[in-house]
Amino acid sequence: MLVGGIDSGTVIMEWILSELMKPQSMKKLQNEIESVVGLDRMVDESDLPKLGYLDMVVNEGFRLHPPVPLLVPHLAMEDSVIMGYDIPKNTHVIVNVWAIGRDPKYWADPKKFIPERFMDLNVDVSGMDFRVIPFGSGRRRCPGVHLGMVVVRLVTAQLVHCFNWEFPNGMSLEDLDMEKEFGLSVPRKNSLVAVPTYPMKDSVIMGYDILKNTRVIVNAWAIGRDPESWTDPEEFIPERFTDLNVDIGGTDFKIIPFGSGRRRCPGMHLGAAVVQFVMAQLVHCFDWELPNGMSPEDLDMEEEFGLTVPRKNSLVAVPTYRLLGDAV
Ligand code: HEM
Repeated sequence: MLVGGIDSGTVIMEWILSELMKPQSMKKLQNEIESVVGLDRMVDESDLPKLGYLDMVVNEGFRLHPPVPLLVPHLAMEDSVIMGYDIPKNTHVIVNVWAIGRDPKYWADPKKFIPERFMDLNVDVSGMDFRVIPFGSGRRRCPGVHLGMVVVRLVTAQLVHCFNWEFPNGMSLEDLDMEKEFGLSVPRKNSLVAVPTYPMKDSVIMGYDILKNTRVIVNAWAIGRDPESWTDPEEFIPERFTDLNVDIGGTDFKIIPFGSGRRRCPGMHLGAAVVQFVMAQLVHCFDWELPNGMSPEDLDMEEEFGLTVPRKNSLVAVPTYRLLGDAV
């Protein structure tokens, strides 16, 4: 389900960016963000409440491209009547959110991407207004709704604010296919290919001249193990962060797992939240032991270097459930 949460976010953002390739909405959104944030820094979470047009763009994206079009199947726990229809207990209910968002009874030009339609609508897409319910509604509503909304708004804003976007190889808007692949989620059938551009210039960093068009490779691995910044750099000592007040989000160059600046990972907030949440659950729910009397000294910590650096050999550890009763 966590992976589903990440997938839904990726799916909706790719659709929104595809729709924004039509220049009118893109320009309008860039202008709004520029007037609130300027061009000297990136958008951050505290800017979001001031970005009304961004809200409209995201709402319209969720209306037209709900990432989970049929929600997940629900089971009626008791007999009930909804809008005159009898729903007997134990009925499997499937909600077609995709069709609701395109119902011509409620939406003019339903297949068109028109963020302005949300201007006076006052629609809450988090489950309170049945016209747009991309996260479901009620007790089984997506528990990641608030994280999901913040991530989608923030990443969309950052992508649009930091870059101009162009089609590659002289492709035009008319060539952009909007075909869908239907399944539990509905991503684009073919990935969006768009080229981000921003003005580049010569610069000087810590006394070094970096000429325009230089390819820069940043060794974040070596930075994190630099003995000038870290004592016992090869040791895993969480307590070293007690008084350090370090931001791993790209503003403190001693540790930059998500990169920094305009090309910083746009999924950073989601990524950091998922890592913390999953680690806490794994450690809280289980005690962990090495198998067959293996001791921690026998554990090999070899790395496999590539674009990412996973363990060379998978970790084999045995979980023993430690919560009380049936808590899951
Ligand atoms: C744009 C982002 C997201 C969208 C559109 C989305 C959408 C949904 C939908 C439609 C459901 C089914 C609700 C229903 O049937 O009533 C769902 C369930 C769920 N989502 Fe999300 N989600 C998103 C992000 C996330 C995130 C970030 C997380 C976790 C960190 C998450 C965790 C879950 C879980 C655990 C469920 C199952 C709830 C249950 O069965 O009781 N989702 N999500």
